[in-house]
Amino acid sequence: MDQRQIVTVILLISATVAADYVRPRPRKILHFPWNQRSPSQPQQVHVSLAGQNHLRISWITVDQSSPSFVEYGTSPGQYNLISRGESTSYTYLLYRSGKIHHTVIGPLDPSTTYFYRCGGEGLEFQLRTPPAQFPVTFAVAGDLGQTGWTKSTLDHIDQCKYDIHLLPGDLSYADYIQSRWDTFGELIQPLASARPWMVTEGNHEKESILFLKDGFESYNARWKMPFEESGSNSNLYYSFEVAGVHVVMLGSYADYDKYSDQYSWLKADLSTVDRKRTPWLLASFHVPWYNSNEAHQGEGDGMMASIEPLLYAASVDVVLAGHVHAYERSSRIYNGNSDPCGAVHLTIGDGGNREGLARKYKDPQPAWSVFREASFGHGELNIVNSTHALWSWHRNDDDEPFRSDQVWITSLASSGCLADEMHESRKILMAP
Ligand SMILES: *[C@@H]1O[C@H](CO)[C@@H](O)[C@H](O)[C@H]1NC(C)=O
Repeated sequence: MDQRQIVTVILLISATVAADYVRPRPRKILHFPWNQRSPSQPQQVHVSLAGQNHLRISWITVDQSSPSFVEYGTSPGQYNLISRGESTSYTYLLYRSGKIHHTVIGPLDPSTTYFYRCGGEGLEFQLRTPPAQFPVTFAVAGDLGQTGWTKSTLDHIDQCKYDIHLLPGDLSYADYIQSRWDTFGELIQPLASARPWMVTEGNHEKESILFLKDGFESYNARWKMPFEESGSNSNLYYSFEVAGVHVVMLGSYADYDKYSDQYSWLKADLSTVDRKRTPWLLASFHVPWYNSNEAHQGEGDGMMASIEPLLYAASVDVVLAGHVHAYERSSRIYNGNSDPCGAVHLTIGDGGNREGLARKYKDPQPAWSVFREASFGHGELNIVNSTHALWSWHRNDDDEPFRSDQVWITSLASSGCLADEMHESRKILMAP
């Protein structure tokens, strides 16, 4: 070997040692072949929780006269139950949406498979209702979009055993091109027609146009969430309960100051939480408050200043956010300081999408930041019982779901954090 070859070999060896994990590149946007079917055939079927023991089935037909009923039952092909619902549609510049149907079914039994058909036409779908008791598992992935990475994230979620999909904002990345909402609906239908998808809005849902369009029109029409069922007057924030867990889905893009509707609704909602019935309390919204990535630095500060004291007073266990296209997990924290009664903050805005990963982190890593990694992937929150939950993050590495981070989380209800009812920090929830 001459000197140059030796240097090359040394460089190669050191590169192999240093680069233990080579980040994959963004993947292409998926193309969807035009799929001919009858105008009354249901498309883009998805399911969401709609109050206790009820689910909302949402779908779209090209035909504006298709009926909004759902037939269902517990055996395939045998629908002994029927529910009638409502429908809406919208126009957006030159685009005219199909008929968007929303039909609530129930009361349903927990942990039960139901077979259903929408509008008396097309394929039979099947769904599984969530359990009434622990254990319950949430799959979590935000910032999905519709790229090759989205597809692999969805495939991995499909392989895990989960009851509910939680999506902390940024769904389709339609970004004004409305037909992309339709292709996104088709892409996720295999999963979203089978398990409830609970979503909250991100910046990519806004799609406002000065003087022409208010924000969130398409999102609100297509992704109706149980805001009425939870006493909220906006689809941009609401809450739901499932198997011993109370979840508040908040709006990073709705007003959040002390005089806002969201603030008063949240305060009222949190004061109704009964930790004997729901020992776990989760919160989810789009823009993270604890973020050591260079991307979107400080964007959550305004909401945090207003809302964090409420979440702390109510002893929220875990906060799930998106927006930053990388994964990060905090220690229990409140007001910037480590606090055994604060929430664990998880940023999981890395479901897929065409914008790629956020690779630059602040250096040094803040003390509260326990784990951070820029990769696409999804999270699983398996709430085992009233005291223990197992959180894991699975990156997409080489198309295999690889469990890169895992931690046991103990509920605040079992950690003595609820004991002092009259603690100074709690008074904010009780004040009129
Ligand atoms: C909850 O689950 C954890 C982990 O499996 C276990 O160690 C603990 O004993 C369980 N607690 C109760 C109250 O069942």
